[in-house]
Formats: sequence, structure tokens, C-alpha cells
Amino acid sequence: MDSEQAPPGIDVTKPHPARRYDYWLGGKDNFEADRESAEAVAEAFPSVQFSALENRAFLRRAVTYLTAEAGIRQFLDLGAGLPTAGNVHEIAQDIAPESRIVYVDNDPIVLIHARTLLDRRPEGRTAYLQADVREPDRLLSHPDLLDTLDLSRPVALMLVAVMHFLTDDDRPYEVVRRLREALPSGSYLVMTHATSDHLTAEDLAQSDEANRRSGIPFRLRSTAEFSRFFTGLEVVPPGIGSVMSWRPEGWRAHPRPEAVSMLGAVARIP
Ligand SMILES: C[S@@+](CC[C@H](N)C(=O)[O-])C[C@H]1O[C@@H](n2cnc3c(N)ncnc32)[C@H](O)[C@@H]1O
Repeated sequence: MDSEQAPPGIDVTKPHPARRYDYWLGGKDNFEADRESAEAVAEAFPSVQFSALENRAFLRRAVTYLTAEAGIRQFLDLGAGLPTAGNVHEIAQDIAPESRIVYVDNDPIVLIHARTLLDRRPEGRTAYLQADVREPDRLLSHPDLLDTLDLSRPVALMLVAVMHFLTDDDRPYEVVRRLREALPSGSYLVMTHATSDHLTAEDLAQSDEANRRSGIPFRLRSTAEFSRFFTGLEVVPPGIGSVMSWRPEGWRAHPRPEAVSMLGAVARIP
């Protein structure tokens, strides 16, 4: 898209994570400011596109596992992103057509494209809310969420590549704790997060500077910091690690873990 085609009400002069991620995944719903932001990140982290692709492949494997093996039929996908190949409801409803999915994002452009996310199997249901992860109580009490999901039955809480947009001031651990508490035993937490694990102090400073220039607040976290989100949960094997190592399917060439620098895990709420 170029600025002449900008939908009304969308500020295309500032970069936004949903459109930048769309650019890395090869989509068309991005603007000049998003591409400039993407290039600023790629200067410090040239393999960022691999990271986006591996993250999305993890999401597909995690949803497949939860639906086919863990018996989950309800998904709350926070920071859902623009529709792309293999949205959560398509993956889950291919296995269990009655699956229900609530998508949430805070970028108004996702709302414009949300029809694709609402095109569900007749047996299942989907809903889309424009809301902010930083306001968990507001989104948990939203009538469309409560109309679609039964919060007395297990739900997979999906926080895939979104929590790194919450800085420490956004109190990310409190946000996740509040979301976890709203779900019954037998629910799951699925999370991926960009990591600082492989960076020297000098690289980290360069990365922080690139993120600052990119115009989108971003907080890399170490494995120890990521693991704190899972305190008290039953982490599903193979545990917490690179998204690439989580139940890989068959053989295919992967970049090195440091080129992806994305942690992932799936855990059951006891
Ligand atoms: C990198 S994309 C990830 C999309 C999808 N979850 C995936 O992993 O393929 C991050 C998404 O989170 C959304 N996002 C960022 N901060 C958010 C917030 N505070 N509340 C809701 N959504 C947010 C962005 O708009 C974007 O669509």
C-alpha cells in the first residue's frame, strides 16, 4: 500500500508493529513509515525476517498441538496481527470445526481486515476486538469476548510476539498474571518473545538504539526474564527455548537460534 491508498482514520506517518510484521512476512498492508522502521531494525538484526517466519511457524505448531493433542477448543489470541496464511481459527477449525477464537489487536488497520478473521466454519465462532493488552480487565469483560468464549472452560491464551512491545513501565508480568487468573484450570499459556540472550553488551546497546530509531518501543528479554511469565505453570515438553526447537516437524533447514532470537513455550495452567 502507499499513502494514497491509506484507509481513512489510519495514521500512516507513524510505524506500527502489525504493519511492520506484515512487511517481514511478505504482506502488502504496510506503508513507507513501517518499511523504514523495518529497515532500521534490520540494520542491527539483519535476520529479523527469519525470526518473523519461524515465529509464525511456531504459532501453527502450537495451535495444532493444543487442538489435536490437548483438546483445547477456545483461543484468546492477543496481538493477533493482520490476517495472513494460517490464522489461528483456520488451523484450529481444520482439526476441530467447533473451535471458538477471539482475536484482539490495538492497531485499527487490523480491524479493517478483520473480516478474514471472522470467516469461520459454521460450527465454530470467532470475534475480533480492538483493545489493548495493557488493559486486561477491560478486554476480559468485553461483551463480545464473553459472548464468544466460556471462561469457565479451558482457553488457550496466546501472547505470540506481542509481550516484547510492553516495556517494564507497562508492567508485563502483572498483565500476564491478571490474564492467567481469569482462566480456569486446564487452560494454556502460549507465548513467544524476542530475546537478548545472544547479545553482547555492545550488541544490546546497538539493538536498543536501532529499536529507538525504529519508532516502536521494544523490550528484549533474557530466558530468565521470559521464564518468569511461566512461574507456577506446567511447561509442556520440550520446555522453554528457541521457537525453532519447539516440536519441530520433519527436517528442514533452519537459521541458527541466534539469527532468530525468539523464545517460545506452551504451558498448562494447573
Ligand atoms: C509481531 S505481531 C504478531 C502477530 C501474531 N501474534 C504472530 O505472532 O504471528 C504483534 C502484534 O501485536 C500487536 N500489539 C502490539 N502491542 C499491542 C498492545 N499493547 N495491545 C494489543 N495489541 C498489540 C500489534 O499491533 C501486532 O499486530
